[in-house]
Amino acid sequence: MTLRLDSTETGIATAARLLREGGLVAFGTETVYGLGADATQPQAVARIFEAKNRPRFNPLISHFAEAEAAFEQVQATPLARRLAAAFWPGPLTLVLPRAVGSTVSDLAADGLSTLAVRVPRGEITAALLRQTGRPVAAPSANRSGRISPSSAAHVLEELDGRIDAVLECGPCAIGLESTVLDLSDPDRPCLLRPGGITAEALEALCGPLHRPTTQADAAPLSPGRMLSHYAPGLPVRLDVLTPRADEALLAFGPQSSPSAAAISWNLSESGSLEEAASRLFAGLRALDHAGHARNLRAIAVQPIPTHGLGLAIHDRLTRAAAPRPFSANPKENTLP
Ligand code: TXA
Ligand code: MG
Repeated sequence: MTLRLDSTETGIATAARLLREGGLVAFGTETVYGLGADATQPQAVARIFEAKNRPRFNPLISHFAEAEAAFEQVQATPLARRLAAAFWPGPLTLVLPRAVGSTVSDLAADGLSTLAVRVPRGEITAALLRQTGRPVAAPSANRSGRISPSSAAHVLEELDGRIDAVLECGPCAIGLESTVLDLSDPDRPCLLRPGGITAEALEALCGPLHRPTTQADAAPLSPGRMLSHYAPGLPVRLDVLTPRADEALLAFGPQSSPSAAAISWNLSESGSLEEAASRLFAGLRALDHAGHARNLRAIAVQPIPTHGLGLAIHDRLTRAAAPRPFSANPKENTLP
């Protein structure tokens, strides 16, 4: 049975206790809901993979209440400290060499010599992490390859009965995952996953970022970056100007004329990329449900700009549209 915990003192204390006891607790962050386990307990981490049906070769992000705790687990460079000061708490994940005394289990780090660390935003989240007092490993709280959850209800749709508890933290303000930046080579900061902090904002502090262009390029660095990911049940068609009558439309911006699509969900009528990011996963989920119920053929997505948060939105939509099933060998999945 999955406990529903509310964001009261008791709820947070119960969630922290469950985590320390090796349980699985989903909790909200400013990006998406994460499925948390004590990163120092390999058995607890193993349960994450089991609950999500996740391939073992995917390393997890460790979450902390503050930067100091994160920097006990990794070898922080001056650039990492500057970025942390600028963007934490917030939607930025830093990949750094693991500290010699790191207590994070090899299973959470997938045996790599690097570790991904992040300090999420949100008072409830911070209170939970502080009370847990250990690094909390947390991938997004969805079954592997499916749409990430941006509310506690989405988590239950995916994982009810498979996890110990979900802590109600309200809807996620940003709505898509953190930006993952690899700083393990200090001379070559590398954008592994676009996300809540824009590439432009990072480049203002780091200079030009290296951006892997193929899956083979990214795979050794970020083994979790499978091409097909965030997949709704219905196929997804991108950059559609004229949707068909048997499609569900994921729209963006003001609509000058009614479309032929059977149903539609506008990510942002005003054309705001921030609003679009926050509504992306909920929109895919809603269209997928309604589309199945009405026997529609696909989800058609209108063109979306690629600057700012648009880059992260494109990344997620490209993955949602990728052919499936995909090869388990990441080298065979070439990024478009
Ligand atoms: O916003 C987020 O980051 C959410 C919330 C819950 O914090 N978490 C999340 O975790 O998206 P997950 O596991 O779905 O994605 C983690 C990404 C994967 O692409 C993984 O390959 C990469 O981070 N990653 C983790 N550790 C890494 C490492 N040591 N080196 C390179 N990439 C790493
Ligand atoms: Mg995920």
